[in-house]
Amino acid sequence: MIRAINVSYEYPNGVRAINNVTIEIDRGVTVLMGPNGAGKTTLLKILAGILKPIAGRLIINNMDYWSAPKDKRILIRRKIVYLHEKPILLRGSVLENIMYPLLIRGIDKDTAKEKALEFLESMRLKEIAHRRRKELSAGEAQLVAFLRALITNPQYLLLDEPTSFLDIKKRKIVEQLLKELASQGKYVVIATHDRLLAFSLATKVIMMNNGTIERELNKRELISEFSDFIH
Ligand SMILES: Nc1ncnc2c1ncn2[C@@H]1O[C@H](COP(=O)(O)OP(=O)(O)OP(=O)(O)O)[C@@H](O)[C@H]1O
Ligand SMILES: [Mg+2]
Repeated sequence: MIRAINVSYEYPNGVRAINNVTIEIDRGVTVLMGPNGAGKTTLLKILAGILKPIAGRLIINNMDYWSAPKDKRILIRRKIVYLHEKPILLRGSVLENIMYPLLIRGIDKDTAKEKALEFLESMRLKEIAHRRRKELSAGEAQLVAFLRALITNPQYLLLDEPTSFLDIKKRKIVEQLLKELASQGKYVVIATHDRLLAFSLATKVIMMNNGTIERELNKRELISEFSDFIH
C-alpha cells in the first residue's frame, strides 16, 4: 500500500503544487482527476517517490520512504513504475526499448527478446518492433512506453495520461490490460482527463483542485456523477 500523509510540495520557483494532501492507494485502480494545474502530475510523482515532499510522510509497504536508508529506498523504488505523460524512448529500436528494463535486471537476452515480442504482439504492434523512436507516431510511442513500463510486472504502476494519443482500439487493449492488473491485486494510479477511462476502470476517483483533494467518489457516486455525460 502507498500512503501519503499531509504531504505538501513546492517547486523551486515557489509554486505550491500540493498542499497538505492525505491519500491512500489501495489495490485496484485509483484515478486522479481535476483541471489543468490541479496537481495530479505532482501528486503522482510524490507517490512514486520521485519528488520529495517539503512536508508530510510517504509510506510505501509500511516503510517511511524518505526516512529509510538509501539501499532500502532503492529496493522499494524497483517495485514502482512511473510513466511520464510524454515518455522519452531510448535510442535504438522499439524492441530494444521494451527489452531494456529486463536486461538491466539481469534477464538474458533471448528471454527478454521473446517476452518483449510477446508484449508487442499483445498490442498488435509486432510490425513496428524494429523501428526507431523517430519513426513512430505519438500513439505508437505512447504504447511502447506503456509496454516498457509493464514488462517488469511492477507492484505499483503510476500512469500520467496513459491514453492521450490512443485510438479507440488501442485504448480498449490498454484498458483491458489495466483491468487484468487490477484483478491481480496490483496498485494502479492514473491521472487523466478522460472520463470514460475513469468510468470504466476506477475503483475510486479522487477529484483534485488547487493542490488539494476536493472529494473522493466511489463507483456508485461515479455512476451518478457521470450519468449526464453517458446519456
Ligand atoms: N516544474 C515546475 N515548476 C514550477 N511549477 C510547476 C512545475 N510543474 C508544475 N508546476 C505547477 O504546479 C501546479 C500543479 O501542476 P501539475 O503538473 O501537477 O498539474 P496537473 O493536474 O498534472 O495538470 P494537467 O492536467 O495540465 O496535467 C501548477 O500550478 C503548475 O503550474
Ligand atoms: Mg499533469
